[in-house]
Amino acid sequence: MAATPSNEKLTAQLNRALALEMRAEVIYAHYAAYVKGIYRLHLKPFFEGEAAESFTHASIVRNAINQLGGVAVTERDHTEILHTTDYKIMLQEVLKTEKLAAQTYHGILEMVDGNKELYDLIEQIYLAEVRSIEELTQLI
Ligand SMILES: [Fe+2]
Repeated sequence: MAATPSNEKLTAQLNRALALEMRAEVIYAHYAAYVKGIYRLHLKPFFEGEAAESFTHASIVRNAINQLGGVAVTERDHTEILHTTDYKIMLQEVLKTEKLAAQTYHGILEMVDGNKELYDLIEQIYLAEVRSIEELTQLI
């Protein structure tokens, strides 16, 4: 099934979300490797958990794009991933990433109002992003 014109805008936004999730996987995995000092004890598993969550979100979004007849992107969002060993900068960088993801999913929710199954799927992801934002805000 090819993407219909009405699905094209939606699949484009889902692809935007997918590219952001693939970037999130990399940024979290990178920071899990490089976080230094006493904070490594907590932040390494936290970053690894968030990387795994991004992988799961990416899989859900990829499947949704396929269901809609679209072709999923295979490249991550190209926004630079800042290399640092400073945990505070890491937290600020991932907070920016999560805010952008939440904003993107919020936009998608408005587009899928008539599709209950997809709405529920995206809402779950959106709420997970909001929880991550709350958690990161507490950590900074
Ligand atoms: Fe996510």
